[in-house]
Amino acid sequence: MTQDLTRKQALIIDCDPGVDDAVGLLLAFASPELELLAVTTVGGNVPVEKTTRNARIIRQAAGREDVPVFAGAARPLVRALAGAGEFHGAEGLGDLEPFEPDVPTAEGSAMDALIDLVMERPEGSVAVAVMGPMTNLALAMRREPALAARLGPVVVMGGARSEGGNITASAEFNIWADPDAAAEVFASGCEVVAFGLDATHQVRASETDIAAIEAIDGEGARLAASVLRFSQRVEREIVGSEAPPMHDPCTVAWLLKPDLFVLKSCEIRVETASDLTRGHTAVEFRVDPATARHRWAVQADGPGVMALIAERLKS
Ligand code: BDR
Ligand code: CA
Repeated sequence: MTQDLTRKQALIIDCDPGVDDAVGLLLAFASPELELLAVTTVGGNVPVEKTTRNARIIRQAAGREDVPVFAGAARPLVRALAGAGEFHGAEGLGDLEPFEPDVPTAEGSAMDALIDLVMERPEGSVAVAVMGPMTNLALAMRREPALAARLGPVVVMGGARSEGGNITASAEFNIWADPDAAAEVFASGCEVVAFGLDATHQVRASETDIAAIEAIDGEGARLAASVLRFSQRVEREIVGSEAPPMHDPCTVAWLLKPDLFVLKSCEIRVETASDLTRGHTAVEFRVDPATARHRWAVQADGPGVMALIAERLKS
């Protein structure tokens, strides 16, 4: 994508907050280069009622009640809802005590919002950042067959190649949770930029990063600091490493500063038939870059992404 710096990038964020979704949303809410059209939610890390409430809590902390939140699919296309509460807390935002935010969920479904907002705008102008299972987008594409060709880049957090999986040996959580949806979206012909574990494991919140965010005033920064501390504890306890990876914020960071990442043209296909390798992303680099519709992030400037997050939370 060539970025036109004179206009804002129209964006819909499709997510399942989720501690790292929260940081990604806060980064987007604080970034004036983005015209955030909507946040859509899906069942993923926790059930959709909770991801939707959490998206509204995050929106309120950011003071961005101008952005509508639409609820989407409660479960994957054909599988049961899995959940990742151990990494996100039972309510999805770590230790944060949930509450009912002031502004309700918008009328209408996430799928209809995706279709309406993309179809009414110029072709290729609306990007979608997908931070959870890809169920909503797959359902929207089924409902509106012209959607795939109309979309701007679909910027996905999902998949794993050289890094191996984080939920099974072969698969990353978002793709594993709804492999059928991911397979449909990747095969739809839309432009995809994918941030799998190969890149997101290079973006980690160090103790210094977390302390710097804790020192920032304001509700958005306080929420970010709270979920980061929780993630740090969980990362130490479950994975045995020091600094939690910031998966989902990579999607927004790329839209803001593409130079923070190295991408390679490819074709991505998803395993749906095997139980053993369900959700594996087969990333084929032997493609013609002139016609390839997919790109895979192979390198990330982790400290650069964390500095961007801190900078925006200060503003
Ligand atoms: C992805 O899975 C979820 O648990 C996170 O929010 C992120 O989107 C990382 O594998
Ligand atoms: Ca997520």
